[in-house]
Amino acid sequence: MTERVTLITGASAGIGIELARVFAANGHRLALTARRADRLEALASELSAKGGTKPIVIACDLEEADAGETIAAALAAAGVELDNLVNNAGFGVFGDAVESDRVEQVGIVDVNVRALTDLSLRFADQLIRNKGGLLNVGSVAGFLPGPGMAVYYASKAYVISFTEALRAELGPRGVRVTVLCPGPVPTEFQARARIGSGHDTAVLNVSAADVAREAYRGLMANKRAVLPGLAIKIVPFLLRFFPRDFILFAASRFQRQRR
Ligand SMILES: NC(=O)c1ccc[n+]([C@@H]2O[C@H](COP(=O)([O-])OP(=O)(O)OC[C@H]3O[C@@H](n4cnc5c(N)ncnc54)[C@H](OP(=O)(O)O)[C@@H]3O)[C@@H](O)[C@H]2O)c1
Repeated sequence: MTERVTLITGASAGIGIELARVFAANGHRLALTARRADRLEALASELSAKGGTKPIVIACDLEEADAGETIAAALAAAGVELDNLVNNAGFGVFGDAVESDRVEQVGIVDVNVRALTDLSLRFADQLIRNKGGLLNVGSVAGFLPGPGMAVYYASKAYVISFTEALRAELGPRGVRVTVLCPGPVPTEFQARARIGSGHDTAVLNVSAADVAREAYRGLMANKRAVLPGLAIKIVPFLLRFFPRDFILFAASRFQRQRR
């Protein structure tokens, strides 16, 4: 029988590393992908040293149009297919969209939207065949518009909408589908996005390890959405009580403080 693996994108840092540790600790064989192969190899060695089969490492840039092909070919060459897919890779860029680097911002769409969509659809038949799971990493940012990080917030709104719709389509075919919507998590994300240290979100912070644990439990319990941490859970609920104009104004003020 073909061996089944869990593919985790963005497994070279932050939440992705912790997701890999949680899936491995629960007995899943892994395939790890990101651009930084040295980090993936180090994680693969760490996980195999704890027992279990060594994860498959696939170095790949998700901004490349043929990334899905590259990953599918590597999995086929290893003779495995997916029972779980975790689309975790993603990044944002802080600053007014019209004044920020256009190519870099289109890259956000490539990674957060295009690659996530490609992999979700490309491997759907394997997830159905293996009655597996799809975990897409959105963000609490996906619940509102984000002036000052416009493309990132919009990309995460797409992830939430797309994943919930796939849940309705794949659920009856035996696939668990969950969208993970963290609030602030201290990782390399903030440095890559060039978010200033002026605004302290420490009170809302949840560790990457806690996010990963909650995400895994949520996927296995087939929850529609996982919002790690108490404070973040109430955000979508609170947003219902405010007019969109007010939310836009408040989001603008919040982002200005982060400069
Ligand atoms: N940290 C937060 O506050 C927060 C909050 C809500 C949601 N999230 C979401 O959580 C997910 C993980 O973020 P994180 O906080 O763990 O960030 P991180 O520490 O910066 O890790 C991002 C991961 O994505 C990978 N990645 C980025 N660009 C890529 C590309 N072009 N091709 C392939 N892989 C790429 C990176 O790998 P390489 O650089 O090695 O390619 C890295 O493994 C993202 O989707 C993010 O939007 C984060």
